[in-house]
Amino acid sequence: MSKVYPDNNGRFGSFGGKFVPETLMYALEELEKSLTEAWEDSTFVEEYKHTLAEYAGRPTPLTYAERLTQKLGGAKIYLKREDLLHTGAHKLNNAVGQALLAKRMGKSKIVAETGAGQHGVATATVCARLGLECKVFMGEEDMRRQELNVFRMELLGAEVVPAVSGSKTLKDATNEAIRYWVANVEDTFYLIGSVVGPHPYPKMVRDFQRIIGDETKEQLQDKEGTLPDAAAACVGGGSNAIGMFYPFLEDEVELFGAEAAGKGISTKKHAATITKGTKGVIHGSLTYLIQDENGQIIEPYSISAGLDYPGIGPEHAYLAESGRVAYEGVTDKEALEALSLLTRAEGILPAIESAHALHLAFKKAKEMKEGQTIVICLSGRGDKDVNSIKEAMEKESKS
Ligand SMILES: Cc1ncc(COP(=O)(O)O)c(C=O)c1O
Repeated sequence: MSKVYPDNNGRFGSFGGKFVPETLMYALEELEKSLTEAWEDSTFVEEYKHTLAEYAGRPTPLTYAERLTQKLGGAKIYLKREDLLHTGAHKLNNAVGQALLAKRMGKSKIVAETGAGQHGVATATVCARLGLECKVFMGEEDMRRQELNVFRMELLGAEVVPAVSGSKTLKDATNEAIRYWVANVEDTFYLIGSVVGPHPYPKMVRDFQRIIGDETKEQLQDKEGTLPDAAAACVGGGSNAIGMFYPFLEDEVELFGAEAAGKGISTKKHAATITKGTKGVIHGSLTYLIQDENGQIIEPYSISAGLDYPGIGPEHAYLAESGRVAYEGVTDKEALEALSLLTRAEGILPAIESAHALHLAFKKAKEMKEGQTIVICLSGRGDKDVNSIKEAMEKESKS
């Protein structure tokens, strides 16, 4: 499969594009031009790479999960340890890239949206480092679930603004952030946290996250002398997944995306955008989303704040339609079981988001042959989730 996309209009096949009000068209064109110039400027590229190496802690390790492999049988399981990146999740790769770009463009203010709070923390972190003013919109429900991250953002000097409409989660925070950006586009850079939004955001975020797959390729070559047979990642908007998948698209590597099936895809409480979604426009881009017959968004649900989004990055919609990547729903319960398994077997407490990928990968690993390898993107660590995990486990033990 060719990786030469999106096209000049920001289309991945029929998906993607720029569905935005006229006031934002100039801002998007300015962003695209600045981005192209930045990638062509070795000073920018060096600063991005230097910051990732000296500040963020790249390369992150690729850990062989030996005890887990023995326990499950089948393929050898490797974990790409984005949980060990500074601030605890892959989101920092992208925040570093976009904040450096904002500074280069002469913008002094940053606005962002966040679900699990990891993108908000990453953004607040780079803003503190670069001396930029930072405002983060976050759904009220997510502020409750991710209390620790709200406090972290505030400590870093960011203003966290609650989004109180709809399900009070990521979609609502994104609406508020876009609204704010439209009104303040002159001096404000919108730092999007996933491969969603209008062109050039999905491409830009992918290019800042592909470091995950690029490093994995090199590290597995060193350890096993070969490419992996399969790779898996969880999909909210889709940034850690595309970061892992993109460098492997033209290789013979099976790719699996885990989306949140919440309480089950036969119920109304899920965020399984590809499995249950249809084509439509959300947050400036044409993609799959969960909507009713009138085009109204169905409120998504997942135990994990970072997967609780009704849309999906347009590149994933394209990869799903073309059949290159297989996407499957993983329920809250399955994710929590996988989380416990990894924690007990390897002493690694993953984020609940990442646990969705773990479940899917464990299922695939058991079906694979001994000696084959599967790599899982461990997108983040679970410290932020201990309250949600405790709550869910207490509920489970009572039922
Ligand atoms: C740890 C972690 N993993 C995954 C995600 C999902 O985002 P994406 O699909 O863009 O990687 C989030 C989002 O907040 C997250 O915090």
